[in-house]
Amino acid sequence: MPLILSRRAFQASLLGYAATLRAAQKNCRTVPALCPPLPTGTPQPFQVEPGIANIQRKPLSLVVADANETNRLRLAYQKLRDLSVSDPSDPRGWAQQANIHCFRCAGNPSGADIHQSWTFLPWHRAYLYYHERILAELLGDATFRLPYWDWDVPANRNLPTIHRNKLDSANKPNSLFDADRGVNNGVTIPLGVILPDNVNAMNAPDFDTFGGTATDGGQLENTSHGMIHVWTGNPRLNPSFTDMGCLQTAGRDPIFYAHHGNLDRLWAEWNRRDTTHHVNPTDSGWLATKFEFFDHKKVYRSIAIGDVLDTANKLGYNYPPGAALAVPGRPRRSEVTYDSATHRIRISDDIKNQILGPGALNATRFLVVEGTSLPSDPGVYYIYAGSPPANKSASAPNYLGFIARLAAGHAHDAKSRLMLDASKGLAERASSPQGVQLTYVAAKSRARPARLNFANVYLVER
Ligand code: C2O
Repeated sequence: MPLILSRRAFQASLLGYAATLRAAQKNCRTVPALCPPLPTGTPQPFQVEPGIANIQRKPLSLVVADANETNRLRLAYQKLRDLSVSDPSDPRGWAQQANIHCFRCAGNPSGADIHQSWTFLPWHRAYLYYHERILAELLGDATFRLPYWDWDVPANRNLPTIHRNKLDSANKPNSLFDADRGVNNGVTIPLGVILPDNVNAMNAPDFDTFGGTATDGGQLENTSHGMIHVWTGNPRLNPSFTDMGCLQTAGRDPIFYAHHGNLDRLWAEWNRRDTTHHVNPTDSGWLATKFEFFDHKKVYRSIAIGDVLDTANKLGYNYPPGAALAVPGRPRRSEVTYDSATHRIRISDDIKNQILGPGALNATRFLVVEGTSLPSDPGVYYIYAGSPPANKSASAPNYLGFIARLAAGHAHDAKSRLMLDASKGLAERASSPQGVQLTYVAAKSRARPARLNFANVYLVER
């Protein structure tokens, strides 16, 4: 290394330094927790908004096709952004809205994390409800409802066009734009990875598997939900950067609220598809769990999970019923042998024959794996029966499913229930006399494969 750099080399090294700094600032682990805790004090209890009408939320694909709807949505977010500038202390403003999410992902060390457990779905429902009421208030239009990003429809698996450009058609700033995305160029998310067939959360046999338990996250959160976050933040599915790819900054992207709108809709849709098995928890502790928000009049309120389960009568919205997937059959459970000393699972010849035999195609079969320890680094992980193939492909015969893990600014031990594909690849390996271990590997990094550790496993057929 020459001690004296040429002027040009010196400038180049400065540029390199600036680039490194920029990259470091964008890395989730270094984003400061700019999310002050909510005020203490006694909140007012939730009450149904007097006179609120039950109005259907619309898919973004319809909003995009309708200039009036597009303008209304843009105006709503512009007003939210303006409020954040004119009065930064107003709890309803844009930055404050984003901070609520940051605080609840433990970006602030004293904030209680509502992710990776059964509080995930109801907390985000309540958050979106107050967000929606605030936007309606700023618009002076009580009929405004948040649209949802219908990414479960293959044609909508890219960022909606109305979010992509910095300026709108009249050359004014587009309030739906966010520069911190990897997908503003309209790239398409790879088909099949959002809602894979057998392990589609919509087939989950019970709420524990769909939406989590007191200690486990659920299938929806750790597959489709995480995948859209990671992909919106960074299309290469690498450990992600701001905004959407990182829990404490995700609320700074307007698409966040439409993404969670779709998750909220999928929850309602999952309930609708099988009213016998797809029921919400009845645990009194869950129902009584309360969350605090500022409402559209700046009143500090607390809302219980029990208040958010009937959206039509209490929160003023509903969703059009979906038809994209068949209504799943009655769930039937079979036991799988799990040796916790060798970490091997084994299925009987009987089950193997059912999976491989005639008629197998008419059923959906998956393993439910409880208490799975999630990898601590963010990214997308592929899961296999036995060793991962050298090319880490998702189409390998022993591929079972994936985990999509968001970045967060703090170390985060988390467990999840997962649904894994129980078809041919698993049947052949798990029926051998010694059984098989489950493994996972990061889809896009050099990290070595590791054994998947979990507490319990069984097989479900529907
Ligand atoms: Cu609170 Cu999609 O995360």
